[in-house]
Amino acid sequence: MTKPIEGFSKLTKEDKINWIAQHYTQHPKETIAVLKQYWNEDDKLQNLHDEFIENTITNFYLPLGIAPNFLINNKLYAIPMAIEESSVVAAASKAAKFWQTRGGFKTTVLGTEKVGQVHFMYQGDIEKLTKFFKHVRPRLISSVAPIVKNMEKRGGGIKNIELRDKTSELDNYFQLHCTFETLDAMGANFINSCLEGFAQCLKEEAQQYGPFSDGEKDIEIVMSILSNYIPNCVVRAEVSCPVSDLKGHHGITTEDFAKKMVRAVNIAKVEPYRAVTHNKGIMNGIDAVVLATGNDFRAVEAGAHAYASKDGRYTSLTHASIENGIFRFWIEIPMALGTVGGLTRLHPLVKLALEILQNPSAKELMQIIAVAGLAQNFGAVRSLVTTGIQQGHMKMHLLNILNQLGATEDEKLSLVDYFKRHTASHSAVVEAFEELRNKR
Ligand code: MEV
Repeated sequence: MTKPIEGFSKLTKEDKINWIAQHYTQHPKETIAVLKQYWNEDDKLQNLHDEFIENTITNFYLPLGIAPNFLINNKLYAIPMAIEESSVVAAASKAAKFWQTRGGFKTTVLGTEKVGQVHFMYQGDIEKLTKFFKHVRPRLISSVAPIVKNMEKRGGGIKNIELRDKTSELDNYFQLHCTFETLDAMGANFINSCLEGFAQCLKEEAQQYGPFSDGEKDIEIVMSILSNYIPNCVVRAEVSCPVSDLKGHHGITTEDFAKKMVRAVNIAKVEPYRAVTHNKGIMNGIDAVVLATGNDFRAVEAGAHAYASKDGRYTSLTHASIENGIFRFWIEIPMALGTVGGLTRLHPLVKLALEILQNPSAKELMQIIAVAGLAQNFGAVRSLVTTGIQQGHMKMHLLNILNQLGATEDEKLSLVDYFKRHTASHSAVVEAFEELRNKR
C-alpha cells in the first residue's frame, strides 16, 4: 500500500509527476508522457497556469465553443461556452437563432445585493446585546474604512449590517447579517475581509463595553464568511411571441407545441425529480459561460439551487405561460459574477471570452448568462416534448463514439453522412463502423 507523503507541495513539478506516476498508476512512463503532452510550450504561459492553483502537474483542457446569434436587448452576441458535453452548444445556438427572428431575449437585473455573515455566540441578556449593537454599528463600519475606500469611490460598499437573533434555532447563536454592493467584482475577497474586520471589532468592543457583565463581554466569534445564497442578486431573462409564430416544429401545431412547453415547465414546478434535471439543463448553459468568463461556477450552482428551493420545495428556475395568444418563457436566477479581479485579466482565454462578449459589466454578464441558461432550457424542453432528446444528442455524440472506436477521418465523414439518414444509438454506430471497416 502507498504510504502517505510529507511535503508533497515542496517537491518540484517534475518530482510531483514522478511520484504520482510511480505510486498511483500502472504505467509510469506513459503517465508522465500524457501529463507532459498538455504542458504549454510557452513557459511563461505555463507558469501562469501553474500558479493559479497548488500542486499543479499539468493543464486540463475543456473545449471552448461559440454559440452565435444571441439577440439580447436588441444587441447581437456570440457567446463563448467552455463545456465537455456534446449538443449543449448546438442546442444553445439553435435556440438563439429561433428567438433572433422573434424579438430576441429581453433581460433585467432585479438586484445586485451580496450577502455575508459573522456567526457568533453570546450567552447574556439579549436587550443588552441589542443596545451594544446600536453602539458598535458605526464602529464596525469605520473599522473597515481602509478596505471599503476604493469600492466606495466607485459607488459600492457596505449596504447594511443587521443583528439577527437565531437563538430559537440554536442556543446562544446570533449573527451580523451584512449586505454589500460589489459592482463589477464578484466581491468574495472584499466581503470576507470586511466580515473578518467586523468580527474583530465586535469582539474587541464587547470587551470594553461597560454595561456588559464579565461573562457577556466574551462574545465568541464562530466564523465570518460570505453567503452564496443571494436571493436579492437576481437577473430575469425572457422570450415571448405570439403562439402562431412558434412555427418550425414538424408534425405538431404551434398551439400544441406551446401547450406542451408550458405543461413540461409546470411538471418541473411541481415534481422535484424532474425539476432537478430541468435545472441541470439550465446550468449546462450557465456553467459553460460562467467557466469561459473565469467566474466561480460552484458559487453560481450553489446559489441557483438554493434559490430553486426558496419557497420550501425544490422547483423549476424557468417559467412558461400562454396568455392572450402570447407564449412567454422566462427565468429568474441569482448570480454572483465578476468582470474585474479574479482570473478575468489573468487567464488569456477568459480575457478573450470577455472581449468577445464586448467587455460586459458584471450586470451585463448576469444578463448574458441568464439568457444562455434560458436558451439551453428552451432547447432541451423543446426536444423533450417533440422528438425526444436522444435523436439530436446521439447525432452530436456520434463523433465521440467514432473517436473511441478509432475511426479514421474518412470513416468519420462517411458515418456522419450515414447517420443523417439513420437513427444513431451506441450499438448502431458500432455496427455501422464494423461493417464499414470490414468492407474496406
Ligand atoms: C442533459 O445534460 C440535460 C437535459 O437532461 C435537461 C432536461 O432534461 O431538461 C436534457
